[in-house]
Amino acid sequence: MLPPAQLAILAASVVLFVPMGLAGWHLSRTKMLFFSGILFIFLFAAVHVAPYFLSASHLLLASVLFPSPRPYPLLPPSSCLPFLHRISWTRAPDPVWSWDRSAPVHSCGFQCISNRDASILLNGSWILVAGDSQARLLVLALLRLLLDPASLASIEPDLFKRHSDYHIAIADRGIKIDFLWAPYERNITDLLVREIQPVPRYPDVMVLGSGLWHMLHVTNSSHYGESVSRIKEAVFSLHSPVLPHMFWLGLPTLIKSKLNTDEKRERMSNAMLEAYGREVARTKILRQSGGPLVLLDVRLLSQGCGAQCTDDGMHYDGVVYNAALQIMLNALVIESEQRIE
Ligand SMILES: *[C@@H]1O[C@H](CO)[C@@H](O)[C@H](O)[C@H]1NC(C)=O
Ligand SMILES: *[C@@H]1O[C@H](CO)[C@@H](O)[C@H](O)[C@H]1NC(C)=O
Ligand SMILES: *[C@@H]1O[C@H](CO)[C@@H](O)[C@H](O)[C@H]1NC(C)=O
Repeated sequence: MLPPAQLAILAASVVLFVPMGLAGWHLSRTKMLFFSGILFIFLFAAVHVAPYFLSASHLLLASVLFPSPRPYPLLPPSSCLPFLHRISWTRAPDPVWSWDRSAPVHSCGFQCISNRDASILLNGSWILVAGDSQARLLVLALLRLLLDPASLASIEPDLFKRHSDYHIAIADRGIKIDFLWAPYERNITDLLVREIQPVPRYPDVMVLGSGLWHMLHVTNSSHYGESVSRIKEAVFSLHSPVLPHMFWLGLPTLIKSKLNTDEKRERMSNAMLEAYGREVARTKILRQSGGPLVLLDVRLLSQGCGAQCTDDGMHYDGVVYNAALQIMLNALVIESEQRIE
């Protein structure tokens, strides 16, 4: 074990240099302070608890390598991503979700991010969400977390103006949120290739996702796969020194008996939904197949919530998009920690 003086120097350097490294990765000063705060608390605990353990140097090393507020910091943060969707639902009286209690999920220590923590995590960030009405519902979940009910009520009519974009800047936290109406994959590709290219700074977080319109109006899974491949190419053509944190908002479970037109009931079958899902997997756009986008698996989440959570068979209650949002925020925390490693 290292003598206390060297321990102190080690701790001080980590607290000082890790956040400086973070600053190099274009995180805002406040986020830097946030993570350096977490690091400091963790190191403080490690240094004071260490003497009570015989093999304390092992514990200290783990806490330096994986500086996280987790109860059991045994898993490196990157190995927690696959467990983010391990959630369970209770149905009565209203649907409520929570992360399940299996061992790996427990070790990852996922937390429901509060308004305050989200404000710190996202302070100074630009979040761009492009897609269809589901993407709009995710933006609503984000605004519900960040704003008080009164300000939310005043902006909701603008957010839900049919087929339109929506922009908001939350000045006190420097958070900028853009929703871009992009019902077709082609719209997302155009946006990546043309519209956000010349902007001096890229968004910090991007959420992309579409497919319902394609399924209804084109109804051809291999064509959909080709369109999603073009989105992937456009992502790789971004000339950003650091890729934004990127997410793919998956298609929801479809409840045939609730779909509100004959055309929808005929074209938007679960067989088609599966074929569309296979095509997305085949493009390898998703992180789980080595691609750049982390899946927000709305299909799984909406299935967990159940048919009672949808009126029209494809758009779900807020609780489903809230779960997707919390998964996204926890993924952002994991990715920030990974960049520290
Ligand atoms: C966000 O950052 C700004 C400027 O860095 C700071 O003044 C403000 O207090 C921060 N807000 C929160 C909620 O952290
Ligand atoms: C999206 O793409 C479709 C088909 O290419 C096009 O007709 C429509 O104008 C585009 N919408 C937007 C908002 O760019
Ligand atoms: C579906 O799309 C593929 C690829 O674009 C095309 O080759 C095929 O002809 C389409 N199938 C139908 C039935 O239109």
